[in-house]
Formats: sequence, C-alpha cells, structure tokens
Amino acid sequence: MNRWQLLLYTLLLLVLTGLAWHAPAPPPSLGNDCLNLPEEYFNYANIELPPHLQTPNLQTLDNTPAGNPITDAGATLGRVLFYDTKLSANETVACASCHKQALAFTDEATLSTGFEGGLTGRNSMSLAMARFFATGHFFWDERAATLEDQTLIPIQDPVEMGMSLDELVARLGNTEYYPPLFEAAFGTSEITSSRMALAMAQFIRSMVSFQSKYDLARLAAPDVVPVDPLPGLTPQENLGKAIFFGPSAGNCAACHGTEGFVAFGAFNNGLDLEYTDPGKAGNTFSQLDIGLFKAPSLRNAALTAPYMHDGRFETLEEVVNHYDTGLAAHPNLSQFLRVGGPNGPPRRLNLSAEEKAGLIAFLNTLTDTVFITDERWSNPFCTDPVFTIDPVKQDGWQVFPNPAADFINIRIDAPLGQDFHLKLLSTDGRLYYSGSFNGQTFQLARKDWPAGLYYLQLSEGGRHWVKEVVWK
Ligand code: HEC
Ligand code: HEC
Repeated sequence: MNRWQLLLYTLLLLVLTGLAWHAPAPPPSLGNDCLNLPEEYFNYANIELPPHLQTPNLQTLDNTPAGNPITDAGATLGRVLFYDTKLSANETVACASCHKQALAFTDEATLSTGFEGGLTGRNSMSLAMARFFATGHFFWDERAATLEDQTLIPIQDPVEMGMSLDELVARLGNTEYYPPLFEAAFGTSEITSSRMALAMAQFIRSMVSFQSKYDLARLAAPDVVPVDPLPGLTPQENLGKAIFFGPSAGNCAACHGTEGFVAFGAFNNGLDLEYTDPGKAGNTFSQLDIGLFKAPSLRNAALTAPYMHDGRFETLEEVVNHYDTGLAAHPNLSQFLRVGGPNGPPRRLNLSAEEKAGLIAFLNTLTDTVFITDERWSNPFCTDPVFTIDPVKQDGWQVFPNPAADFINIRIDAPLGQDFHLKLLSTDGRLYYSGSFNGQTFQLARKDWPAGLYYLQLSEGGRHWVKEVVWK
C-alpha cells in the first residue's frame, strides 16, 4: 500500500465512522419527496361547468370568500398538502387517507383511522361540491365556520393527525418542494398556517363533480324540469328521479337540493338517536339543534358508503328503507319528514320494491367516474402514501390472461353478492382505474394504458390484496 492509498483509506474510514456517528437511525424515508406535478398547471380556477350548474340558484350558494378565489397555483399547493403525509405527526396519514378520490373523497370505514391507529368520532365526509354549501359551515355538526378554518382542524386533532401548526410550518420549511410552491401561490416563499388553509380550501372548492350519467342526460335536455323524465335515463332511473324530486313523493331534494345535491343547512332526518352525539347542538348549545346534522352532497352517493354521520347504513338500500318506513320521532325531526304539519308524526312513504329500486338506480346515475379519476385531484406524490401495496400474492382470486392485451378477467372464490373494489395502479402508485363490482367475476377493459407492469388491487371490507399484472 503506498502513501496515497493509505491516505485514501484513512479518509474513507473517517468518513464512514463520521457517517455512523451522525446517523442516529434516520427517519424512515417514505419515498414522499418525489413529486409528479404537471409541466403546466392543471385548470382549477376556470373549470367550465355545464349550463345546469351555472344557474343563479346554484351560483348564489358558492361559499368562496372574496379574499380566497381559486387560483391554479394555489390549488396545486393545496393538492400537494392534501396528499402529504408530512401533515401528520408520524408522517403516516394524509388528508387523502380518509378522503380518497376513488371514493369521492370519503373512505370505506365506519369510523376512520388516525395517525396512531385511533378512531375518529364520526364517519368521514365526501368533499365533492363543498363549494356549494351556502352556510359555508363544515363538519357534520357545522362547527367549522368556514372551509379555511376547517382545513387546519384535522391537522391538530389528537386522533387524526396530531400536529401543532408551528411544528408543521417548520417541517414544511425543511423540504425542497414547499418554498417554491408557496411562492408560486402567494408571491413569497413564506410558509404560514393561514396560507396552508387558503391553499387547501382552494383545492377542495375546485372539487366539482359534473360528468355523471345524470349530467349527460341533463345536458342533452336542458329544459326538462326536475320532476319530469330525462330522455337520457332509463324508465327505472326516471321513476327514482320523480320520487327524489317530487314534493309529495320522496321530497329528497328539499334537503339534498339543487344540481349540487347539497343541503342548505343541518337537519334532523329521523335517525334513531339513542346515544350521545348531540350534532349541531354540541356547537350551538341550542335544544332546537339536538340531533341536527349536515349532509354531504349526494353526488357519487353510490361510492360513499357507509352512510350518515355514524356510518350506520352500509348500503343505499338501507338508506332508502330508512326514509321509507324507518324515520324515528324526535322533537326536532324536520318538518319535511313529517305528515300533517310541523308537529305531525314521521311520514311513511311505503314505496313498492320497484320504486325503491328506482330511487337507488337514480342515485347511481350521480356517479361520476371522471371526477374520481381526474388527475388534477389525484395524488401528486410518486409513491402512493395512501394505499399500501401488499407484495404478497394471495390465493383465492385469479387474474387471466396475464400478460393481457385488451382485457383482464378477475375471478374470486367468494360467496355471491359481495361488493369488491378494484384498482389498477402503476408501480409508482398512479391510479389508472378504480371501480366497484358485485359478484365473483369482473372484466377490466383496457383503455389507452401503456404497456408494462401494474398492480391490481382488490379490496373488500378494508382488506386489500394485490397482484402484479402486465399489459402487453
Ligand atoms: C383520520 C381521518 C381524517 C383525516 C386524516 C382528515 N379527515 Fe377530514 N374528515 C374526517 C371525518 C371523520 C370528518 C367528519 C368529522 C366530523 O364531522 O366531526 C371529516 C370532515 C372533513 C370536512 C368537512 C366536509 C363537510 O362537508 O362538512 C372537510 C372539508 C375535510 N374533512 C377536509 C380534510 C382536510 C383538508 C384534511 C387534511 C388537512 C382532512 N380532512 C384530514 C376524517 C379525516
Ligand atoms: C329533512 C331533510 C332531508 C330529507 C328530506 C332527506 N334527507 Fe337525506 N340526509 C339528510 C341529513 C341531515 C343527512 C345526514 C344525517 C346524519 O348523518 O345524521 C342525510 C343523509 C343522507 C344520505 C347519506 C349521505 C352520506 O354521505 O352519508 C343519503 C344517501 C340520503 N340522505 C338520501 C336521501 C334520500 C334518498 C332522500 C329522499 C327519500 C332524503 N335523503 C331525504 C337530510 C334529509
């Protein structure tokens, strides 16, 4: 060994011991710093709504404050924050963990799981059409006065994300990607919690769903009034539509109103409330508000199970049965749900099986597959922090052919009648397909998805199984 070699080895040794010395177990890299943002901004500020969503009665509901209009750069920052697990104390949970795009920004759980495994007090809410809640109040009990206020609450919630705002500001300041994103959105790179709130509120207000089967039918027949049939819907769906909008029928639109299918306030909708959640009264302390809850938009209702603030109903059938004959008496029961005046007993619709099926079929026309797959609302991080990919191949379901050219068949060894959710993800976590089906078989038809290796994730009741599949 010559002099130079000796010197080199000594240096190397020093560097290595130095490294070992300075490395008290590095925080686990969550692969979270790789961002996949578009070259040009997605359009959030000027999403063109179809005419039926531009009517004055919907536009006057818009809760966007004058001081926080949606901008493309602001909503882009909001998107990154929404999907970033850095917002939770141990970097395991993002807003999107409980508000999943594939489920219209709610989750499949009765109560959601927070950063340390604790459960939330209520069912997660779908975020579509949040912009059109005229009161501008958020949460089931309307305790957040504005959407901007709302966004900072889960971050500091001891169950949900467990962070302090000061810690979070410091943490975001230590990343490479946030300072430029704040600068683009607000003119300077300064990171503050109020800027975070503004950006997340912009992103959430941009979540408008307007490309469902119902919308296409509505677009083709702009002059049809709500109770009349739309030519683009089936007779069964139109039967349900008449019940939904009919004032002397289901009268659902009295509370789930306008083309946003949003509530204009909180109501008591006749749930049997023999337990302690006081609803809006927990916030206002008024007797008249006991058992009043707000409802998320019913757009995409087929995807947002389980239903109600406590997730008590698993299916739309159960919801429809509730409104049909299950309404419980309560001093605060909404008068829309009584017969014979403001003090009358709970109404009974006594729908036939056909009418119930129609009502559900109509609710199913509100599913918007563009909304739940549109990249502008999707996870911008390269690895998907929301869905963990289980590399273990499971038996009990088959995927064939694999490699596949035009379609993949899925066969599951499960009892008939079970609901499954299927996702196709690229190996870096981008979502290509998300949908539900009921039964033992399903055929996934290829769109213009590039050839290569993908993950196919099958989910049922909160459990996930993953297989690798190849498009030729
Ligand atoms: C651990 C799960 C969880 C996480 C994480 C979470 N949420 Fe939620 N979210 C919920 C639940 C549960 C509710 C309903 C809570 C209630 O009403 O008391 C809710 C309600 C909301 C609402 C109210 C919707 C409405 O129509 O009133 C908004 C908006 C929202 N969340 C946005 C966010 C944002 C933004 C983040 C991240 C900063 C976030 N959530 C993180 C579970 C979660
Ligand atoms: C008096 C107002 C009112 C009327 C009328 C009404 N609802 Fe509701 N709806 C609510 C409220 C309030 C909630 C949330 C209640 C809760 O969770 O405590 C709700 C919740 C729902 C949900 C669950 C939403 C979710 O994401 O969890 C569905 C689905 C629903 N209603 C469908 C209907 C249908 C169908 C009709 C007509 C047969 C109808 N509603 C009539 C007020 C109403």
